[in-house]
Amino acid sequence: MQHTPINGILAGRVEEGESVTVRGWIYRTRSSGGVAFVVVRDPSGVIQCAVKKGASKGFEDSVKALIESSVRVTGTVKKDSRAPGGYELQATDFRVTHFSETFPITKDQSTEFLLDVRHLWLRSQHLTNVLKARHFIVKYLRDFFDGEGFWEISPPIITKAGCEGGSTLFELDYFGEKAYLTQSGQLYNEAFITALENVFVLAPSFRAEKSRTIKHLTEYWHLEEEAAYFDNDDNMRLQEEMVSYVAQEFAKKNADLLVHFKRKPEELLVVEPPFERMTYEDAVKKCGLKYGDDFGAPDETSLTEGMDKPVFVKNFPKEMKPFYMAVAADNKHALCADLFAPEGHGEIIGGSQREWEYDKLVSRMKKDGLDLKDYEWYLDLRRYGSVPHSGFGLGIERLVKWMLNLEHIRDAIAFPRVINRAYP
Ligand code: 4AD
Repeated sequence: MQHTPINGILAGRVEEGESVTVRGWIYRTRSSGGVAFVVVRDPSGVIQCAVKKGASKGFEDSVKALIESSVRVTGTVKKDSRAPGGYELQATDFRVTHFSETFPITKDQSTEFLLDVRHLWLRSQHLTNVLKARHFIVKYLRDFFDGEGFWEISPPIITKAGCEGGSTLFELDYFGEKAYLTQSGQLYNEAFITALENVFVLAPSFRAEKSRTIKHLTEYWHLEEEAAYFDNDDNMRLQEEMVSYVAQEFAKKNADLLVHFKRKPEELLVVEPPFERMTYEDAVKKCGLKYGDDFGAPDETSLTEGMDKPVFVKNFPKEMKPFYMAVAADNKHALCADLFAPEGHGEIIGGSQREWEYDKLVSRMKKDGLDLKDYEWYLDLRRYGSVPHSGFGLGIERLVKWMLNLEHIRDAIAFPRVINRAYP
């Protein structure tokens, strides 16, 4: 049976007096005398349905049905300034698809409880809006790379080659052999560029993060890019163009979502190239840190103080960064950059030029104590037609957290995985 999306009615696309069917879930309900006022929600909005004794089929069911019961309501559209959204559906036929049990979520419940019933809490307006915003943000990222002529690829999730240090690797027993859940597709992305030159991937990455913070998940979605012949400057240019494209598209095309998240469009419309490029030394000075320190949460806030756009911190001391990064001519700094979002949202991107020469790469890997036999295939990339290249990784949830100005990263993903939670 055909149905009409609720937002179509609220937008006045249906003539008053016309009969339509909506389907959804009961959002709120009350009855007085011979009328039940049942507010129904679907993915697009909510509408009040007036179900009248004697005039509407299914009146008894409409009185009986609890919140979150699934329903189909046929009725005539009527303008009514007292109804939410300004329209009411005067029901002629109210059908319950499923009578819900008493819904466990009521007002003012604890964060932990809401996480326990996350599968039900997803229906809340807030999380529904996060899901929609995330959909658009991911779409704009894909649109951007498509427009730039990048190929979307699919590196493996199970790997023997750690990429970002041993301490956050999730180990698994791969039929009696040691393997890991990927921390990053990067090493494989580097293989793809010899076939396709410019590639990107959107896939989950895993980090056994042992601390609880508002910025770390153990499973997150990673948008990674890799490009042949790109140096660190080309890499930063691509990042600022990508981030600006997403910010502009999101601000221009999602007025209703911006209102929900209390984000002024101007706060995203200012995000345009170029972004400031700060050296690591200047950045530690600004934060009152010393050479060799990394940026903790409070530093991430001071770093972007007075800035309304993201800022790059480039050329960290090479010892602070992973083995695969190219080293500057001074032999002291890595040719890398991290991108920090404003308002204390912190690092959203990590990227670098890669070490493309066999001897330098092997010597650094040995120094870091890596077992070269797990990386023979990676070293082949430096044996057969190596080229200079660069790439980066963006945490989708970090980007969503910043764009929607969310307090906690767990609200940027439907089913957050953190140290104490892998349920539901
Ligand atoms: O800086 P990271 O560790 O860099 C890499 O993994 C590179 N191999 C990427 C590449 O060059 N292809 O991670 C990249 C980004 C971070 O900037 C952050 O946005 C996100 O991944 N990230 C996390 N997001 C949520 N939870 C975590 N535990 C994260 N760890 C990293």
